[in-house]
Amino acid sequence: MEMKSYFIGTILLLIIAAPSVALTPPALFVYGDSLVDVGNNNYLPDPAPKANFPFHGIDYPGSISTGRFGNGYIGPDYLARYMGFLQSPPPYLSITNENQMLRGVNFASAGSGILNSTGEGTISLERQVMYFQEVARNLSRRAGNLTANKLLSKSIFCISSGSNDIFAYFLAYGPQNKTTNDQFIATLVKNLEIHLKTLYNSGGRKIVALGTSVLGCIPIVRSQTPSGDCSKDLNNLSIQFKNETRVLLQSLTSTLKELTYSFVDAYEMANEIAANARQYGFTELTNACCGMGRYNGEAPCTPNSNMCSNRCNHNSWDQYHPTQAIAELVSQWSFYGSKYVSPMNIQ
Ligand SMILES: *[C@@H]1O[C@H](CO)[C@@H](O)[C@H](O)[C@H]1NC(C)=O
Ligand SMILES: *[C@@H]1O[C@H](CO)[C@@H](O)[C@H](O)[C@H]1NC(C)=O
Ligand SMILES: *[C@@H]1O[C@H](CO)[C@@H](O)[C@H](O)[C@H]1NC(C)=O
Ligand SMILES: *[C@@H]1O[C@H](CO)[C@@H](O)[C@H](O)[C@H]1NC(C)=O
Ligand SMILES: *[C@@H]1O[C@H](CO)[C@@H](O)[C@H](O)[C@H]1NC(C)=O
Ligand SMILES: *[C@@H]1O[C@H](CO)[C@@H](O)[C@H](O)[C@H]1NC(C)=O
Repeated sequence: MEMKSYFIGTILLLIIAAPSVALTPPALFVYGDSLVDVGNNNYLPDPAPKANFPFHGIDYPGSISTGRFGNGYIGPDYLARYMGFLQSPPPYLSITNENQMLRGVNFASAGSGILNSTGEGTISLERQVMYFQEVARNLSRRAGNLTANKLLSKSIFCISSGSNDIFAYFLAYGPQNKTTNDQFIATLVKNLEIHLKTLYNSGGRKIVALGTSVLGCIPIVRSQTPSGDCSKDLNNLSIQFKNETRVLLQSLTSTLKELTYSFVDAYEMANEIAANARQYGFTELTNACCGMGRYNGEAPCTPNSNMCSNRCNHNSWDQYHPTQAIAELVSQWSFYGSKYVSPMNIQ
């Protein structure tokens, strides 16, 4: 009983206090893949991909391997901080008491995709959205529909998904003709649309969507091309998907009247960093920091991997993931910037 009244009391306080802190959204909800998973996969059995061992987290406070795929903080950590929170919202699967959900929840699962078939053993985007609906129902039950809806409508819903679907498609079928590619991308966009509408119908109003990045240039891909070049086919799929995601968001605003969004063009951000690397402090754009084999891209980061001494000048942390330095830059541009985030930045 005590827990229950504290829960309601805190929500009421947040709402009543809202006018004076109008710039701080009440909560942050995060969905998607390893770019934004802060530890959900730690709670899943194999074969869900894990990062709760060194050298992951080597630059995290206390050098803790939290389950984040990276050397330290990742995107949602910076986003939460810029929004005024003391810390990133907790992994959904770590929550033991409902008070922990008041500032938001992170539902993301490394390896997952927009399609259920992507990422065996992970939490698909669809399932993440179902978990959120349960959280929203609980919030309504505890605080009342009006209060819960008010809270949700002012909160940020951040989504990073699609990369793993594109990898899975490419791995299974290789380069395809235009017709087949178009069909695949259309399926992804259609499913993303369903999930976005479900979030809206459950009370979400402010969406931040991260477009897929330069997937054809990450170390695991380069390690498999004979010349070490980027895969143009993968990059093309990524461009096509992120372009159509932006179009989808724009078109949704005509049917979902209260929807506002920020589309983060991570692909163009990556190109900007590559083109002016030194200006941003990066001198190593090709080799991963932690890994094995060609470009350190042939094997995952483990305690037995090669590990670079300077993580700050590396673009890639491991086979698939950027370093903390990149995550910070991308988060800054997304929150405060104007060039690669549209039609408005997150702030
Ligand atoms: C995806 O999985 C969820 C449960 O995880 C299920 O409810 C849903 O029907 C599935 N969707 C499709 C399109 O198979
Ligand atoms: C929601 O409430 C139900 C019923 O009290 C509980 O079993 C469930 O764990 C809660 N879920 C979340 C995410 O809080
Ligand atoms: C709150 O909303 C739910 C679902 O929309 C509905 O079933 C329930 O009756 C509502 N409760 C109140 C008190 O309005
Ligand atoms: C494209 O590939 C699909 C599957 O491989 C095949 O069925 C189709 O005929 C091809 N279309 C064209 C225009 O080549
Ligand atoms: C990539 O897309 C561009 C523009 O749509 C096209 O000209 C090019 O042939 C494509 N390259 C590959 C490898 O698919
Ligand atoms: C993606 O969008 C950009 C900018 O609108 C455009 O220049 C480019 O041709 C588009 N590419 C594809 C493959 O749709």
